[in-house]
Amino acid sequence: MAAKASNPDGTWYAGDIDRLVVTEDEIKQRTAELAKQVAADYADRDGLLLVGVLKGAIMFMADFSRALGLPVALEFMAVSSYGQGATSSGTVRILKDLDGDISGKHVIVIEDIIDSGLTLSWLLKYLASRGPASVEVVALLRKPDAVKVDVPVRYIGFDIPNEFVVGYGLDYAERYRELPYVGVLKPEVYTRA
Ligand code: PRP
Repeated sequence: MAAKASNPDGTWYAGDIDRLVVTEDEIKQRTAELAKQVAADYADRDGLLLVGVLKGAIMFMADFSRALGLPVALEFMAVSSYGQGATSSGTVRILKDLDGDISGKHVIVIEDIIDSGLTLSWLLKYLASRGPASVEVVALLRKPDAVKVDVPVRYIGFDIPNEFVVGYGLDYAERYRELPYVGVLKPEVYTRA
């Protein structure tokens, strides 16, 4: 957990990452544990639907769905909560809606991070209004110190400090999503004029 991001990827964003928060190996291991837990809990249910929240959840959705070992359908929604800034505004709007009907389905929302909780709080109400059999959430990361609204999240990967993190789906101004780990972005990167 405390590994240093001393340029772990050659010249790849060299110098922009202050330190690692969750390593690639830790993500793999925790994803496998979460998948095992969810697979056991849902073993006797049909109509399992994973709803990934774009864009941040793409990496976790891909890895989690493959680790699950159960037949699932995949859907994606895109909602916007804080554009290109570094903190949440609380404004949520749908950029891409569900393609299909979720009524009667066992929905599992796949999120990369719960920051203020505003996105998820809104999303859970929205999904509940569409008649699913059940809705639960799997979130890879949560910032307990940033939570403004409590949301019921059954499966959490890691609680992390309230710092600006990027990687493994998380961006700053659309950069860093493809990093295989989660790390703290150096403040000078986002305070640069
Ligand atoms: C991020 C993240 C979550 C949400 C969490 O998405 O992926 O969906 O914010 O923040 P909250 O708990 O404070 O609501 P963002 O709106 O940045 O879009 P992106 O995933 O496309 O980067």
